[in-house]
Amino acid sequence: METVVSGIRPTGNLHLGNYFGAVKSFITMQEQYKCFYFIADWHSLTTHPHPANLRQNVRTILAEYLACGVDPDKATIYVQSDIREIPELYLYLNMNAYIGELERVTSFKEKVRQNPNNVNAGLLTYPTLMAADIIIHHADKVPVGKDQEQNMEMARHFARRFNQIYEVEYFKEPASFSLSDKAVKVPGLDGTGKMGKSTGNAIYLIDDESTIKKKVMRAVTDQGPTTPNQVKPEPIENIFTLMQIVSDPSTYEYFNDKYNACEIRYGDMKKQLAADINAFCAPIRERIEYYSHNEALLSQVAEKGATAARESAARTLQDVRQIIGFRRN
Ligand code: ADP
Ligand code: TRP
Repeated sequence: METVVSGIRPTGNLHLGNYFGAVKSFITMQEQYKCFYFIADWHSLTTHPHPANLRQNVRTILAEYLACGVDPDKATIYVQSDIREIPELYLYLNMNAYIGELERVTSFKEKVRQNPNNVNAGLLTYPTLMAADIIIHHADKVPVGKDQEQNMEMARHFARRFNQIYEVEYFKEPASFSLSDKAVKVPGLDGTGKMGKSTGNAIYLIDDESTIKKKVMRAVTDQGPTTPNQVKPEPIENIFTLMQIVSDPSTYEYFNDKYNACEIRYGDMKKQLAADINAFCAPIRERIEYYSHNEALLSQVAEKGATAARESAARTLQDVRQIIGFRRN
């Protein structure tokens, strides 16, 4: 059976972008693959050096994973920092990772631009830690959004390089995975770009009905089309894309036809979109409420996941130590 590995950094609540870009794949894939889903708390230290409430943030994502339907009986759900073998593999991979190639990673350059006073070594070696996360379980497939493609490329490089240096065929090269042929990009409703925590335009799974409505009603629109079948400008296209993602296809078609006939009323469309987002989020929201208050269950899930993930990681490290030439103990 093929193996799947993926993780999300605990830097806030999950939003619709995280759900449709990553978590939805987690739920689908757990039915037919051996899945490892984790919370990347070490990775969050690269940009949040003094994380307030690290423990609470980890609990939040854990509760939200469960609320979305990630199932601890089907997948191994764990916290990255519970698996000490990961940093050991990270260390070995770093010995064969070159500063030049790490400095060329776009997201590194982006972070340096955004925060020139916090260019730490962890940030530079983010891709080696991510590679360790993935290859430690010999992942075949990694469900992530399009923005992770370069990190995935690096993970394949590091796996291949390890094999070449030690003249073995040990690590597989992991492939990025997307449910549809095209990687999903959930747009923001502020005109341009994708939905994200850092861009302040996210609709969170935990948002209540009035918050959702407020966010959707604020979405950027224009005067409306003046000629039939007019190409949609980006802000309008974004509202339609979100509707395509969360609403019934017939709802999307109804408003699309209205747009093409120059009869669209954005106010009506937004009300419908807000109602559909709320209908999607409401049951998840209730389950988040339930799980986030069930400390005992969360601990139990994390403990069970840690045991299984450690077992898998320890097997790999035993092999790796032997391959590199350390004494076996
Ligand atoms: P954020 O951008 O909110 O900080 P992360 O970078 O932590 O989110 O992303 C976690 C996961 O969710 C990744 O797999 C990423 O590709 C996916 N993801 C985040 N935002 C979106 C989006 N708008 N559309 C599709 N996938 C997304
Ligand atoms: N870099 C990923 C993100 O920002 C999080 C992550 C860390 C990850 N390690 C991973 C994703 C391993 C997939 C596999 O979203």
